[in-house]
Amino acid sequence: MVLIRLSPVFAPLHQEILDQLGALPAKMLGSEFFLTHQDISSAQQSGISLFVRWQLTIEHCWPCCPEKMDFFIEKAAQALHAKFASRNPQTLLVGILSPGSPNPYYKKMAVNLRGRALQLFPPLPSAADVESQDPSQPTLYCMIGKEGLYAGMATPRATNGFYAGGSKFIRQDPEHSISRAGAKIAEALHYIRLYHPELPERAHWLELGASPGGMTAELLERDFFVTAVDRAPLDSRVARHPRLRFYPENANTFRPLDGEQFDALLCDLNGSALDALDCVISQISHLRKGALIVFTMKAHKAATLDEMLSLHRETLAKAKRAGLQFLAQTHLTYNRHEFTLFWTAR
Ligand SMILES: C[S@@+](CC[C@H](N)C(=O)[O-])C[C@H]1O[C@@H](n2cnc3c(N)ncnc32)[C@H](O)[C@@H]1O
Repeated sequence: MVLIRLSPVFAPLHQEILDQLGALPAKMLGSEFFLTHQDISSAQQSGISLFVRWQLTIEHCWPCCPEKMDFFIEKAAQALHAKFASRNPQTLLVGILSPGSPNPYYKKMAVNLRGRALQLFPPLPSAADVESQDPSQPTLYCMIGKEGLYAGMATPRATNGFYAGGSKFIRQDPEHSISRAGAKIAEALHYIRLYHPELPERAHWLELGASPGGMTAELLERDFFVTAVDRAPLDSRVARHPRLRFYPENANTFRPLDGEQFDALLCDLNGSALDALDCVISQISHLRKGALIVFTMKAHKAATLDEMLSLHRETLAKAKRAGLQFLAQTHLTYNRHEFTLFWTAR
């Protein structure tokens, strides 16, 4: 049995996506999760897996209405301990099946269940800090909601996220925020730790498509240096930052200073995704070996699932021809009709 999370952004396409994943029939749990008895492993390597935000093979389930059960938390915690403690998970994380729900009932229950279960388990090495998990070591994930409890052990990399359900809570309006885009790069940098070590402080980013500066502000907040390019201006709150150089230019023709080398590149250019990728490719000689590339593949113009998949195929093929090393891809919590793709420069 596999639990799959699909973004509500693609709700009109959910049935088609599940069909192409080979996941039908599937039962919807909560607002974004689908449970299937089908084996979807053969779809893992195909383009359609782009839409799977998070997934977990379920090894223990308790379909019930937790609100109506006596001693649900105690019974659930005892069952998790009995079934999984001997397999030494690095941590135990509990998430909720309706992540967008304003009702705090299951959020509180998730916290309480985790707290009680951790009392029963021997000390788990990453219990205190979700981000200290080794992405390649198994974690016990447990999802709860009004449909019951679903749990299994998997590595964060296999599920496609460190947290149960895949989302880290990131505020969209921190003090340094210029636009909501800041939360996207914050989540992207969190996500990519599944595959890539954290960039050193003071790393130098080249940012294509920076205006008004939401992502720029987030990068600067993290002590990075930024060279930003956009034909539109940057917000005055960020424009004069001492670690920022801004070029009000066309990204197609922008050339950095001779010999300048960047540790990472962020591209959030709007318009055609393939044209945006051309802009990235034209900067390869200015990227250090191994430099991280974070690319928003805008898919707004793709009207159908097939058009999105074909855009994705062309994007991957073009990047490969240019010598970029594919790292990972996902649909972030704050992405709309766009995906975030990661490569490294060779
Ligand atoms: C989605 S917005 C970027 C938002 C920005 N990353 C943020 O965090 O606030 C896309 C930007 O790409 C810029 N853009 C698109 N094509 C461009 C080009 N060829 N040269 C320069 N800027 C371009 C637009 O001016 C626009 O500001």
